[in-house]
Amino acid sequence: MKTVRDLAALREAVGGARREARRVGFIPTMGALHDGHLSLVRRAKSECGFVVVSIFVNPLQFAAGEDFDRYPRRLEVDAAVLESAGADLLYAPVPANFYPPGFSTSVDVADVSDGGEGAARPGHFRGVATVVAKLFLQVGPDAAYFGRKDLQQTAVIRRMVRDLDFPLRVVIAETVREADGLAMSSRNVYLSGEQRTRAAALSRALFHARDRAAAGQTDPRALEDETRRELEAAGLSVDYVEAIEAGSMARADRASPGIALAAAVRVGKTRLLDNVVLEERKTP
Ligand code: PAJ
Repeated sequence: MKTVRDLAALREAVGGARREARRVGFIPTMGALHDGHLSLVRRAKSECGFVVVSIFVNPLQFAAGEDFDRYPRRLEVDAAVLESAGADLLYAPVPANFYPPGFSTSVDVADVSDGGEGAARPGHFRGVATVVAKLFLQVGPDAAYFGRKDLQQTAVIRRMVRDLDFPLRVVIAETVREADGLAMSSRNVYLSGEQRTRAAALSRALFHARDRAAAGQTDPRALEDETRRELEAAGLSVDYVEAIEAGSMARADRASPGIALAAAVRVGKTRLLDNVVLEERKTP
């Protein structure tokens, strides 16, 4: 696996793969890689002949006072795990070059960006859409891979790709979890031992809600309320719990199969996100 740090070298490497008629798969990340990221790399590798991974902690998507400065950065370890997961090229742009002085363009995906994480973190999805649009133009992939854990991000990217006619396929992969259900996240390293134990209540409460929906609970507000209460009882501070249509991010008016239940909680200073998709009613 090769590592490149500037656009010219990226274009040369991807151009070489194109001349060999290899399909290009792309996974944008912010590094501190875990099995969730690597599942995207493996999926891409199974579908594309040339897999590009970017690592860039994007300042545009962090608000003042968020964890941009302390976000984990460990490029060498990440490069080693990417190599063993089968990535062909690591693109780790240098921040000062990526956003030149006077950079002033942004991509604003209205509507799907507004609720949920967008409401809790104003400007966040503008930062995400802007960096992903720029990375798509730089890499020029045939397919790009995202994780369902960041459900609203997938809706924002899908909408942007559709609206702006990016010539690529967006692939969404399932959330990878720790043994106790906690969704893997680069931010999990912030948790103390006690917080890590408490954090498991997030996925547990969402799984309980999914079970209740499968057993016949069709009222989305009741599911939200019960989940919120369960999270609070477990000592988690709840930012939101929302039953939503995953494509439009609109609040669901019925808790039917395909509807997602998404939640954000805080454990100490760490924000954790997760979601489940409701399933068919179980026949006894
Ligand atoms: P990051 O948090 O590093 O995540 C990179 C990709 O990995 C995203 O598509 C995310 O949804 C996926 N991912 C993270 N944890 C996962 C898990 N447990 N299971 C499956 N997939 C998981 O998301 C970002 O970076 C940034 O916003 C980015 C898109 C790179 C733009 O800066």
